[in-house]
Amino acid sequence: MQEFTYVRQAARVVFGTGTLARLREEVERLGCSRAVVLTTARQTDLAARARELLGSLAAGEFTRAVMHTPTDVTASALDLVRELGADCVVAIGGGSTTGLSKALAVRTGLPQIIVPTTYAGSEVTPVLGETDNGIKTTQSSPEILPETVIYDVDLTLDLPVPISVTSGVNAMAHAVEALYAPQANPVTDELALRSIALMSAALPRIAEDPADREARADALQAAWLAGTCLGAVGMGLHHRLCHILGGSFGLPHAATHTVVLPHVMAYNAEAAPDVMRRIAGVLGAADAPAAVYDLVSALHGPVSLGELGLREEDLDKVVELAVGASYPNPREVTADGVAALLHDAWEGRRPASESRALPTAELRTLTDQVVASFDGAPDPRVRRLLADLVRRLHGFVADNDLTEDEWQYAIGFLTRTGQLSSDTRQEFILLSDTLGVSSAVDLLTNSRTAESTPSAVLGPFYVEGPPPLPGGADISQGMDGIPLWTSVRITGTDGTALPDAVVDVWQSNADGFYDVQLHDLDGPALRARFRSDAEGRVEFWSILPSAYPIPGDGPVGRMLDAAGRHHYRAPHLHFMISAPGRQRLVTQLFVAGGAYQDSDTVFGVKDALIVDFPERKGPAPDGRELDGPWHSLEYTFHLAPATPS
Ligand code: BEZ
Ligand code: FE
Repeated sequence: MQEFTYVRQAARVVFGTGTLARLREEVERLGCSRAVVLTTARQTDLAARARELLGSLAAGEFTRAVMHTPTDVTASALDLVRELGADCVVAIGGGSTTGLSKALAVRTGLPQIIVPTTYAGSEVTPVLGETDNGIKTTQSSPEILPETVIYDVDLTLDLPVPISVTSGVNAMAHAVEALYAPQANPVTDELALRSIALMSAALPRIAEDPADREARADALQAAWLAGTCLGAVGMGLHHRLCHILGGSFGLPHAATHTVVLPHVMAYNAEAAPDVMRRIAGVLGAADAPAAVYDLVSALHGPVSLGELGLREEDLDKVVELAVGASYPNPREVTADGVAALLHDAWEGRRPASESRALPTAELRTLTDQVVASFDGAPDPRVRRLLADLVRRLHGFVADNDLTEDEWQYAIGFLTRTGQLSSDTRQEFILLSDTLGVSSAVDLLTNSRTAESTPSAVLGPFYVEGPPPLPGGADISQGMDGIPLWTSVRITGTDGTALPDAVVDVWQSNADGFYDVQLHDLDGPALRARFRSDAEGRVEFWSILPSAYPIPGDGPVGRMLDAAGRHHYRAPHLHFMISAPGRQRLVTQLFVAGGAYQDSDTVFGVKDALIVDFPERKGPAPDGRELDGPWHSLEYTFHLAPATPS
């Protein structure tokens, strides 16, 4: 049973987009008429906007708020407040500006309106930290709690992604420590979990599109909820460590929180297993500390104290300061424990909770046993490939702390991939293609001579034994599209013509479908087998290829969707060319300037295969008269000798 005392912190919160416009109304609501506007030197434009919105209610501005709320800066601001006869404070900015506002409020009793532009959360707490001659002190009083907070999502749209990430994880730290605080209660528990869920989902979306208003709104709401927790309960080891690292070693506030949080979570995991389980639940992960670390590293946030500039030799001093003070923490704070935690954080190691440490020795034994089971394989290549595959698969499982659910999902995914595969639909090839494995194997196998034409993936739409057609034939079978006249030459790497080469071609129609996908079609279309003439030439009519999505109705399509990847291939024509004494060439020619050239979903585009398909008018080279414009493709393929010299 959870026993608690809960005191609701009163503050009026206005949340939305464009809410800064309500500033004047909120000042009037407090019965005030002479507002002093606070910002930092970098945000003077915001102060100007606020003064404009306040109109006659603006008494003046102070734009010199700085980090750590030094008392001498507060003294200058206080002089101005008195000189102006101000009757309220309006602070627009991050934690520094809010700090100054609180410092003024505690000295004057003036009401405050805070407009946060980061995820600091301090706007909803009755706590003030100040520095005097480099010594930081903290106090809490009802006077310090701001009366009104205006959250305007629009003001956070410009917050750079790296700062959004560190500021967001700083907010998450408030929520995490609230969950295991001695004063934790059902209200703060719910707020904290909701905050963690919102923030962890919002940050990746912000990283992708910093102007995503919905994601920004979620992050700002998460910051408010976390700040509310921070204002209601006491913080533990994490905040103590960050306080020391910031106060005594000058490390940047939010970045320090970002590095330290997963390590303190791992330290406390054994003592607060329920809390970690609940956090893991909202993060959709097995291990909460590792999941927070993974989130930060995926967002390219800081993961090591070393990269923030802390020297390794300073770690002992941090341990000493951390152990010297008393504060609530679920697990006893020991010098050895904190030293190990800090060491991991300094190096940027991925944390593992002690209760869930990897059984490394047993895993190694298991892997070795499986690898040894292949020792008797008669073919040394089979032995090597199976042994290496098992080592890497076991490594993948261990490095990612794979859960049974995840492995079940993977097996289900592969099962569905197999079940969908048939003679005309090869989902496994699609998987290999979209993971870039086909292109990697292709690079190793076929692209080792500089003089020969590069190859490209085969793809799932090649059909054995295409219909043989004579030179100059039209392979479009009357399908709609812009006519394309192709004239290619097949040569050796030295440029000598290769007559009688077998040249298979295939392509999609104007809607992006191959014939095998069109069930109403009677026989093959847009595919054929030609033979090169005495000059090594092959010519034919077809239609201009367009970009098309790869088949997306199976597990591969789901995978691309889950990764936020598009499904499209750049427009291209396929060729498979065989000639006596030459290596077979499987390749594609891409339309220069075509869509998705830089983001082909199967990673098939190579510079040497991008070709102009210019528009032409008038009669075609074979004398054909066309009603409208047509395009042409000319290209020379260079085939490598069958046995490389
Ligand atoms: C293709 O170009 O036909 C293709 C290649 C890889 C995957 C899907 C389609
Ligand atoms: Fe294709």
